[in-house]
Amino acid sequence: MATFHLNINGKKHQVDVDPNTPVLWVLRDHLNLVGAKYGCGVAQCGACTIHVDDVALRSCILPISQVGNQTITTIEGLSQNGDHPVQKAWLKHDVAQCGYCQAGQIMSAAALLEANSNPTDEEIRTAMTGNICRCGTYVRIKEAIKTAAANS
Ligand code: FES
Ligand code: FES
Repeated sequence: MATFHLNINGKKHQVDVDPNTPVLWVLRDHLNLVGAKYGCGVAQCGACTIHVDDVALRSCILPISQVGNQTITTIEGLSQNGDHPVQKAWLKHDVAQCGYCQAGQIMSAAALLEANSNPTDEEIRTAMTGNICRCGTYVRIKEAIKTAAANS
C-alpha cells in the first residue's frame, strides 16, 4: 500500500492503495466516482475513458502510481451542469441507447475537440475507433461530434 494525492475534477483526494491499482478502481471503489465504466479491463472498449491532463486515456490499464501530479477529469467533472458542448450535442442527437459506453464516448469526443476543434469525418473516426458501442450508436455519435464542433 502507498498514499497517493490526486487532483480529480478540481478537487484534491488522498487514497491509500496498492500502487498497481488501476485508476478506474480508485475512482469507482475508493472515491465513488462511478461514471467511468468497466467494460473489458484491457484497453479494448473505451468504457473507462477519462482525461489525464486533457488527454483521453483508458483508466482500466493506468496504474495509480503513474498519475503523479497530472490532473484527472472524469465525466462527473467534465462540466458543472452537464452543459459541455459535447454533452449538449449528445442530448440534441439523443445519442445514448443503453448508455453503458456513453461516458467513455463523451470523454473521447471532448478530448478530440480540445485538440482539434474542427475534425474531419476521418479524424473523428480515428479518434473514436477505440470506443465500442454494442448498441451501435456510431452514426449519432459522429453527428453529435460535428454539432459540438460547430457550437464550441
Ligand atoms: S474497460 Fe477500459 S478499455 Fe474497456
Ligand atoms: S449505448 Fe449501449 S453500449 Fe453504447
